[in-house]
Amino acid sequence: MKRIGVLTSGGDAPGMNAAIRAVVRTGIDKGWEVFGIQRGYTGLINGEVVPLGLRDVGGIIQLGGTMLGSTRSTEFVTEAGQEKALRTLENQRIEALVIIGGNGSQKGAYALSQKGFPVVGIASTIDNDLYGTEMSIGVDTALDIALVAIDRIKVTASSHRRAFAVEVMGRDTGHLALAAGIAGGAEHVVIPEEEVDMDDLAARIRNAYERGKPHAILVVAEGAKYNAEALESYFAEHQAEVGFQLRITILGYVQRGGAPGAFDRLLATRFGAAATETISSGEHGVMIGLICGRVEKIPLSEVATTKKPLDQELLSLVHVLAR
Ligand code: F6P
Repeated sequence: MKRIGVLTSGGDAPGMNAAIRAVVRTGIDKGWEVFGIQRGYTGLINGEVVPLGLRDVGGIIQLGGTMLGSTRSTEFVTEAGQEKALRTLENQRIEALVIIGGNGSQKGAYALSQKGFPVVGIASTIDNDLYGTEMSIGVDTALDIALVAIDRIKVTASSHRRAFAVEVMGRDTGHLALAAGIAGGAEHVVIPEEEVDMDDLAARIRNAYERGKPHAILVVAEGAKYNAEALESYFAEHQAEVGFQLRITILGYVQRGGAPGAFDRLLATRFGAAATETISSGEHGVMIGLICGRVEKIPLSEVATTKKPLDQELLSLVHVLAR
């Protein structure tokens, strides 16, 4: 009988529970024993391992967060931390590990895999910045939450003829902001990947009013040089020249804590099932992701070392659509 482990790491994402459930139930279906590692790599280092049975993962598919807990472990980045983690796996006689998480987590997965331990990653981050997958677990739900906020902000912005900057998460990249901007009908997106010309931005907002719009919405990535707070202070200083008030709303963690929608539950379930299937076929050192709508395996060596490019076609549509 095979003994496998599953952990969630980094920022939680809606759908992580659905992925854990799928790993546990498809693993047990194969006749394996499945163990949950609590609190991500921290728990792996400290030996926080619990057996997971069919009933332990009951009633969680609809819940946000992660029943296993999650951390960002600084110790795991070190050689000593990774050796401790390997010792836990050896002591628990765990033969393969499923790692559910984003960029940092998949880098960790790659490190373990380079040390010869069989791991399979599952793409999960609301930032959608993982190379090798069109969608990661949690993105769709986080987008829906952002859109509820943007739609509501538009209403009050229109009443007052105001401009708003709505800040969404995305520490290093603008994938989430770009998608929220397109789906939310924003006038402009402000993202780390693009330099912002403040005169041009002010002109775009002024122009929106001149064309008869009652509001102007900017969707801003948290990691942009001009995040919501920086935009607010810039426009407060230049209000006389730009001729409008800019209000801001920072959505922050509210995007991460939602209950997963249908898309994320299905995606997470497909990813979880694919992870155990991969282990069963003897393959490892890969991450499960979505390519052209299909569940695929991408080498962790690529995932850990390649930056996901921004969708330039989508970016070029922002202004065309904001007329
Ligand atoms: O998981 C990704 C993310 O939500 C980023 O968008 C954000 O910058 C970061 O996590 C916040 O991390 P933490 O939960 O450690 O504050």
